[in-house]
Order: sequence, then structure tokens, then C-alpha cells
Amino acid sequence: MRKPADDFCQTDTSWYALLLPPMAQKKLKRFAEIKTFSNVLEYPENMAGNWNAFFRNDKPITLELACGKGEYATGLAQLYPQKNFIGIDIKGNRIWAGAKFSINNNLTNVAFLRTQIEKIDTYFAANEVKEIWITFPDPQLRISKAKKRLVHPRFLRLYQKILQPHGKIHLKTDSPGLYNFTKTVIKLYDLILIADIDDVHKNKNIPQELSIKTHYENLDIAESKKVFYVCFSLPEKIIDADERLDHILKSSNEKQ
Ligand SMILES: C[S@@+](CC[C@H](N)C(=O)[O-])C[C@H]1O[C@@H](n2cnc3c(N)ncnc32)[C@H](O)[C@@H]1O
Repeated sequence: MRKPADDFCQTDTSWYALLLPPMAQKKLKRFAEIKTFSNVLEYPENMAGNWNAFFRNDKPITLELACGKGEYATGLAQLYPQKNFIGIDIKGNRIWAGAKFSINNNLTNVAFLRTQIEKIDTYFAANEVKEIWITFPDPQLRISKAKKRLVHPRFLRLYQKILQPHGKIHLKTDSPGLYNFTKTVIKLYDLILIADIDDVHKNKNIPQELSIKTHYENLDIAESKKVFYVCFSLPEKIIDADERLDHILKSSNEKQ
């Protein structure tokens, strides 16, 4: 007969979970639940080049990087049923919210990928991605963290490996520092600026897609009371790892 103490020896984590604070219990539950969701892939293997097969159609693919709860992936999926959307984030409990919303609302053109953005070129093949949205990423304003900014040339070089020619990159941020840094990068590396709005919600005629609001947009952590939007594309030539430009970027950053 099983004794109650035997349960303590089980690898089943349910009894551990009961000892955790409610927030941590909720996280664990969500981590377990996303493993059962057909629209969430965690560190999958062999997905590069296979996303259209996953969606079972040949619609173009848009990524939302640092998607958190995936408000853009799901919001755009509702606005554009003729496109596929993939939200990417490292935090499973945040992805849970967007994935659950998609299941409840029968959104079949959206999926979520749990991984580090630094590895994005292992999950997508050349030209597999049509557009990229970056929504309220951590601005990483400390100079020592500049390379972690998702619009740093280090990341743009990765995006260039998977984006179609002329593929658009959209950045929405409440951080004036990240907004100015992005514009410096665009100028310095000869990127193609498509749109630049320095106060999205002041503008009455914004496109519908800019009125989608994310969790962090509502928090206004930068306390700027403004939302900045920049849209740009990458030049056809590869953004070389040009040490001279990287050095100029670094010193312009230090002067700000
Ligand atoms: C400030 S939150 C923004 C979330 C969401 N876009 C929003 O606006 O509410 C930044 C998100 O980026 C994710 N993140 C940061 N660095 C990442 C990385 N290198 N790879 C994957 N996700 C990352 C975090 O987990 C977090 O959910």
C-alpha cells in the first residue's frame, strides 16, 4: 500500500507547487499548460524553412519580437487574416496569455515561439520572414548594455539573415533613449526610413495597427507619456560587421 510519505518521493511537482506563493504557482501552471498548446513551440528543432507547413498555408509571416503577452501578434492576426503571425519571447508564462487568447478566439494564423531572440536565425530560413514588429522592448539604456538593444546592428544582422528584401521592421517604444538610438542606427548604417512618428497617440489619423496597445505600453515605464514609432527596412547589401561604424555608434551613444 502507498504511504503518504511516498508522495514526497514522487517526481510529480504538484506538492512542491502547493508550498509556493500563489503567483509562482500560477506561473508553474502556465508553464505546464503551454506544453499542451498546439500553437506554442518551445525551443523546437528543424523549424527553419517549415513555418508555412506548420500553418498549412503559404501566407506571409510576420514576427513580433519580445512579444510578452502577444498583443501585437494577436491584434494583427485579427486585423490581417491573410497573414501569419509568430510572437517570440523567452517567458513562457507571458506567452501563455497570447496563446490562450488565440485558442479561445480561434485565431489559427498566430503561433508563439519560446526562445531567445539571439537565436532567431536558427528558427527561420533566409527570406522566410516578411516583417518584424518589436514592441516595447527593454530599452537597455545603460551604455554597457547597448548591444542588448533589439535594434542594435548586432540584432539587425541577424534579422537580415531571415527577412525578405525590403522587409519592414517596426519599432514601438515609450523610451526616448531607444527611439533616438534607433534613428542614429538608421542614419549611420544607411538603413531605409519608412515612417517616424514621435507621438503616436497625439496623431488622430494613425493606422489601425498602431492603435493596438500592449501591457507595457499601458504601464508607461519610461514615464515619457509618449509612444514613439519608427518603421524602416534594411539595405540589400549586408550590414557588415563594420568596426568603424560600430565604434562611431558606441561613441555617439556615450555622448548622449
Ligand atoms: C518590456 S517587456 C515587453 C513585452 C510586450 N512586448 C509588451 O509591450 O507588453 C520585454 C519582453 O522581452 C522579453 N525578452 C527580453 N529579452 C529577450 C530575449 N533576448 N529573447 C527573448 N525574449 C526577450 C522579455 O521576456 C519580456 O517579455
